[in-house]
Amino acid sequence: MKETIETPPAFGLKEDWNSIQRTLEEIIPVYDKTNRYISLGTDLRIRKAGIALLREVMGTDDFLLLDLGCGTGKMTDLFGAATRTTDRVLLVDPILGMMRIARSRTKAQGLLAVYENLPFRTGSIDAAMAGFSIRDARDLKRALSQLDDVLRPGGRFLIVDLSKPDSKVKSVFISAYWRLIAPVLAFAAAGRQGLKFAALSTTYRRLPKHSQLVELFQMCGFSVEKSESFMIGGASVIVIRKNV
Ligand SMILES: C[S@@+](CC[C@H](N)C(=O)[O-])C[C@H]1O[C@@H](n2cnc3c(N)ncnc32)[C@H](O)[C@@H]1O
Repeated sequence: MKETIETPPAFGLKEDWNSIQRTLEEIIPVYDKTNRYISLGTDLRIRKAGIALLREVMGTDDFLLLDLGCGTGKMTDLFGAATRTTDRVLLVDPILGMMRIARSRTKAQGLLAVYENLPFRTGSIDAAMAGFSIRDARDLKRALSQLDDVLRPGGRFLIVDLSKPDSKVKSVFISAYWRLIAPVLAFAAAGRQGLKFAALSTTYRRLPKHSQLVELFQMCGFSVEKSESFMIGGASVIVIRKNV
């Protein structure tokens, strides 16, 4: 009998990436407000918890930080509020409309780029953070490999995002929330435009399970340093460290 060789699943939005990006461009005017609604107000708490963890492991606030997939800049905004400066934060996002809002909101510098092709010198960055955006990467493995290249040894990456627990029961419940309940809340927040948030369920479906994500981190040269889970495992904060 012929032996089959298992290849690891390829994570990332792949062929869905362009349509999700178009949807993100369309929802820019209602993005922040709708996020508060569909996360039942917890996204701010989770973002702040992540930023606190990153500052704790860095042991200083004076480090060069990328805000990857910065969107409208909420992560940098909160980082600036906590540390009183955004001078050493660089915003990164491929959508010009998102970048304009992020730059005017945070006063940080920004550039239009994607995870999969980061225009920085090898080992030149101390840390990076991604608020609800790592699951939007087109190719997750390539994104992590690029990050591994630009971070200095021992550099950190903070991920604040939805997560898919290994428990089947929890994961079915959470995906039903994003498929059925979140669009209703989004409609309440933003009317017809809110319905476009239904695209979230595609990004959730494509997301690796927690254990698969940890395996991918290890494969790309990182170790998990800290993690916290929220909303019965439907969201998490993870700090990974580039191996020395
Ligand atoms: C759901 S929004 C999150 C925005 C913001 N970080 C926040 O905390 O609200 C996802 C962002 O990731 C960006 N994005 C999508 N694919 C990306 C990629 N391959 N590289 C970098 N950013 C990407 C999108 O343009 C979008 O602004």
